[in-house]
Amino acid sequence: MIKAENLSIKYSPQDTKPALDSITLNLKRGEKFALIGANGAGKSTFLLALSGVLLPSGGTLSVDGISVCKDSLKDIRRRVGLVFQNPDDQFFMPTVEDDIAFGPRNYGMDEGDIKIKMNAILEKLNISKLKERSAHHLSGGEKRLVGLAGILIMEPSLLLMDEPSSFLDPRARRNLISLLKELPQTMLIATHDLDMARDLCSQVILLKEGRKRADGEAEKILGNSALLEECGL
Ligand SMILES: Nc1ncnc2c1ncn2[C@@H]1O[C@H](COP(=O)(O)OP(=O)(O)OP(=O)(O)O)[C@@H](O)[C@H]1O
Ligand SMILES: [Mg+2]
Repeated sequence: MIKAENLSIKYSPQDTKPALDSITLNLKRGEKFALIGANGAGKSTFLLALSGVLLPSGGTLSVDGISVCKDSLKDIRRRVGLVFQNPDDQFFMPTVEDDIAFGPRNYGMDEGDIKIKMNAILEKLNISKLKERSAHHLSGGEKRLVGLAGILIMEPSLLLMDEPSSFLDPRARRNLISLLKELPQTMLIATHDLDMARDLCSQVILLKEGRKRADGEAEKILGNSALLEECGL
């Protein structure tokens, strides 16, 4: 599903140290991956690269066999959904409802279908009451859930989430975890919430200072406290 070979990402060509440095990974479809690492380790950068927001400065990256490059961006964005770390980056329509409907409308989904899907997702996330509100005037946790709804309605085959449990109260967090557990999609979840990672993900990718430090079974990596400590976790 995701293949990276010596992938490097720089935010600017002048940077001496890349934000991601020679990452090689081969991630299987259908699994849930936790992407962990200290602040600045490169988690968000990797998610931005997977969604084509940042293009490789070295090496290669492919999703579903499609190489992520300028020419494939349309195709990549149809398959990959990213819920941003800062939910404000995601909203641009006047109401929550319009914001969630924006993506599917753009792809020509039938209005009736949009309504049915939207209502089901809002209900699952427990945010039906926010429909007519302005997305910019919501609380942090509400924004996070609305951002997630806007991505889920697109049914991406690869779901990327950047700190999905941040800002959420304990009940909303539990609710989110059980919802994500049910979804069939391949997921890559960047998070500091190691309990959620343990609960939700079968696999872990551990980054340290822009490099891959370890990847494999969640139980093994999350159970290795010396390794986690070494990586600042
Ligand atoms: N817009 C940017 N321009 C230049 N450098 C950036 C930019 N965004 C991030 N970086 C750098 O890239 C590196 C990786 O950052 P990234 O945001 O991917 O880390 P992260 O693992 O998501 O951290 P956090 O846990 O704090 O969210 C850091 O050194 C950071 O300073
Ligand atoms: Mg980040």
